Amino acid sequence: MKLLAPSLLSANFANLEKDIKILEENGADILHLDVMDGHFVPNITIGIPVVEAISKVSQIPLDVHLMIEEPSRYLKEFIKAGASYISFHVEAEKHIHRTLDLAKSLGAKVGVALNPATPILVLEDVLPILDFVLIMTVNPGFGGQRFLEFTLEKVRKLKNIIKEKSLNTLIEVDGGIKLDNVEKVLKAGADIIVSGSGIFSNPKENTKKFKQILKSYF
Ligand code: DX5
Ligand code: ZN
Repeated sequence: MKLLAPSLLSANFANLEKDIKILEENGADILHLDVMDGHFVPNITIGIPVVEAISKVSQIPLDVHLMIEEPSRYLKEFIKAGASYISFHVEAEKHIHRTLDLAKSLGAKVGVALNPATPILVLEDVLPILDFVLIMTVNPGFGGQRFLEFTLEKVRKLKNIIKEKSLNTLIEVDGGIKLDNVEKVLKAGADIIVSGSGIFSNPKENTKKFKQILKSYF
């Protein structure tokens, strides 16, 4: 089953609860929360207290995407705050395996995120212990950017490796995904679809339409 993960980065931050309800009522599977520190990426967004507050009002699992330096320092707190899925960037962490181990021991589904220019090869050896890989389809930092076409090939390649090795690792894609290009990433092999601006231009209708498309892929 393909999962829809609307990104709250494009939601109304003054009334997140209302937006979350709309997403839930119309079939969103998980909520994607973008944490940015102003160092790993130029932007600053939300932190642990906001994740915790969202977890109290959300009925669906939280997917926390850490775009921060030294993610291992904060992993435990984000999981405690309610992250069921958590990912950190390979470019921001020197000890990938140790950090993965830590996240797994805390009971979260753990993923590693790759910037568009980072090759999937860096993950080959840890793939069997990953629950998911987050392939960035824009450069991280902002919502509303244009989808980078060359990332499709990375999704295809990764899907093939996962199949060859008979693994259950899911592929999450994030950035520039809208109703008019989501089928491309689904065909390439994506399992979890993140969309921010592509949802929030009309959250009710777009959530429904995304789910309708996702249903025809499995
Ligand atoms: C970008 C974030 C994304 C962002 C996607 O760095 O990781 O999750 O919210 O937004 P759209 O779908 O508008 O590109
Ligand atoms: Zn994200």
